[in-house]
Amino acid sequence: MCRPDFFTVVYRINPWMDPRLPTDTALAVRQWEVLYNTYLELGFDVELIDPIDGLPDMVYAANGGFVLDNIAYGASFTYKERQPEGPAYMDWFRANGFDVREPQNVNEGEGDFLLVGDAILAGTGFRSASNSHREIGEIYGREVVTLELVNPSFYHLDTAIAVLDPAPAPGESPNIAYLPSAFNEDGLAVLRERYPDAILVNEEDAAVLGLNSFSDGYNVVIAARAKDFERQLLERGYNPIGVDLSELLLGGGGVKCCTLELRR
Ligand code: ARG
Repeated sequence: MCRPDFFTVVYRINPWMDPRLPTDTALAVRQWEVLYNTYLELGFDVELIDPIDGLPDMVYAANGGFVLDNIAYGASFTYKERQPEGPAYMDWFRANGFDVREPQNVNEGEGDFLLVGDAILAGTGFRSASNSHREIGEIYGREVVTLELVNPSFYHLDTAIAVLDPAPAPGESPNIAYLPSAFNEDGLAVLRERYPDAILVNEEDAAVLGLNSFSDGYNVVIAARAKDFERQLLERGYNPIGVDLSELLLGGGGVKCCTLELRR
């Protein structure tokens, strides 16, 4: 995670961002600390990367790379405003003992790559280039499932899909939640076939980035305002934990965006 000490909105690279609206950096930090403390209370080991002045989106650590099997596939950002974050995160991975792979293709890390069971679901359409899907498949030797995003408000895959069961027991199939309207017909067909029991999240909950959540398979940290998603999670036996990241929503990010998983 990356403390939002320099968070603000001074450019617009997604529809959520409006540089004319005021932001409150101190409030962003307080809200982020609630998320950070929630993870600590759940018993997770949370590591921090130092924020860099002039990189206001660095708080969205999920975009800093994708980490699996101790290999960190570096990010190469779409927009010049975020491009310096790629090397900054790769330096951190190297300093912390990960095997870093420099990216050859534009990709925004865990924003567009979601590990679900043994497969990597990979988003494209707004940010990560489809060539990066081939690249990540070669690096990890896993099945990569390309999904095209069609709604600019849900520009990263982690805004449209929540991974509910990151590490299912052998023989059990992992479940997800998603926003159907974020995908084209081909993508929907794939999702329906692979995840017949998926939770379908409504537009209202998606509009507070409710899907942008973190799950350990039981506890699911979600946007506090995503009430119908919360109800559906309870019905399925999960333990939803709501947090309010309203300030970071002004940059177009939520719980998951602030969280990069380090799978050593
Ligand atoms: N302002 C950032 C951007 O548009 C937000 C990134 C949100 N991160 C995410 N994993 N969805 O790039």
